[in-house]
Amino acid sequence: MQTRIDNPPSRIAPSEVQIDATRLNDELKTLATFTSIEPSPDGTAVTRIVFTSDDLRARAWLKSLAAAAGLVIREDAVGNTFFRWVGAEPDLPAVATGSHIDAIPHAGMYDGTVGVLGGLEAIRALKRSGLRPRRSIELVLLTSEEPTRFGIGCVGSRLISGTLSPERADALHGAQRGHEDETLAQVRAAAGFAGPLSSVCLPSGHYHAWVELHIEQGPLLEREGLPLGIVTAIAAPAGYTFTIEGIGGHAGALLMPDRRDALCAASEIILSIERHALATGVIDTVATVGTCDVYPGAVNSVPSRVTLQVDIRDTDPVRREGVMEGVRRDVEQIRARREVRIAETLVNADQPAISSPHIVQVLDEICRGYGIPAKHLVARAYHDSSFIAGIAPIAMIFIPCRGGVSHRPDEYAAPADIERGARVLASALGKLAAE
Ligand code: GLV
Ligand code: MN
Ligand code: MN
Repeated sequence: MQTRIDNPPSRIAPSEVQIDATRLNDELKTLATFTSIEPSPDGTAVTRIVFTSDDLRARAWLKSLAAAAGLVIREDAVGNTFFRWVGAEPDLPAVATGSHIDAIPHAGMYDGTVGVLGGLEAIRALKRSGLRPRRSIELVLLTSEEPTRFGIGCVGSRLISGTLSPERADALHGAQRGHEDETLAQVRAAAGFAGPLSSVCLPSGHYHAWVELHIEQGPLLEREGLPLGIVTAIAAPAGYTFTIEGIGGHAGALLMPDRRDALCAASEIILSIERHALATGVIDTVATVGTCDVYPGAVNSVPSRVTLQVDIRDTDPVRREGVMEGVRRDVEQIRARREVRIAETLVNADQPAISSPHIVQVLDEICRGYGIPAKHLVARAYHDSSFIAGIAPIAMIFIPCRGGVSHRPDEYAAPADIERGARVLASALGKLAAE
């Protein structure tokens, strides 16, 4: 038996959806002040690692904005935070949007935040339009989309979709030097998020539809002079660590023929990864070694142990695995020739996500109605939407970012593009909530 509220649902005309662009851009700037590094001269460098005091202060501020907007707030055991505008038929699966506010070291101020604050403003705009949605509309702040703290990205959305087991999640260790002993279980408890992680998982069909707004983080929209992208698929990321153990010693006294230098072996592995990724000849294959932890890390000490974190992505997971097979053949040969120990650990190997043709069509129609030329494209960065796709039909809206630059302080999205993206998002949420 479904609950109905007296006030019946209504629909809106697109012209009634007006984004308060000034307020949205001011809020993006305020969110950028919750950072653990001093703002750089241009004021935009942001480091906001999940569950640090900066992240927690940002969450508290965001909750105050959502409360002021009249949204019902729920937090789960890993800190995913749900801001719900209750619809006329609250028992129906809601329509949702969301993204993340954590930021890698020395990042910009738009990655993820445009989707969270843009989502909030989209809901406020729908409220101002006088809409009474049939389905509830929910904004979700997802925990730890960035892998900085625990070595694996999208922790919150993986748990929601059941892609990561609660046991493995709670046992995740700190990936940053000096934090290796911390576990997610300890860190989330200290941040005030209690309860079993098994309670985070949501059933398939929990949401009627999910649409995430995000900066493109690539150059295609800007290059083609297009103001908006509709994501049809999200590339498949994988993560590995390689630990190389050799023999350390005095940089002066340990003779060159006797060395088992772990960093030299690691260097060969890094170059092998680059070589095999290039060898596919396809621009959809990308591979990066983004961290290299050298022990003991002294200029006059031969490295005895090195840990590499490898990030490899492709629209085709079979081709991605082919790259790793080539790397493994090289690793065997490096191990034998250099007489070092090399261990490979799989962090994650995900599948690509495919957008819902229905939501893509809804977005196409909205863009046509607004006269916005929109491009269909593939997301090459990963996003929480990849995992939400396990429990709901998804799609994403991309807006251009200057030079395609992201994960850098000079990441920039123009206010007019943010406004346009939020407007399309609002219209999509309104339309999907009427279904
Ligand atoms: C997320 O920011 C990613 O690495 O794609
Ligand atoms: Mn990012
Ligand atoms: Mn992001």
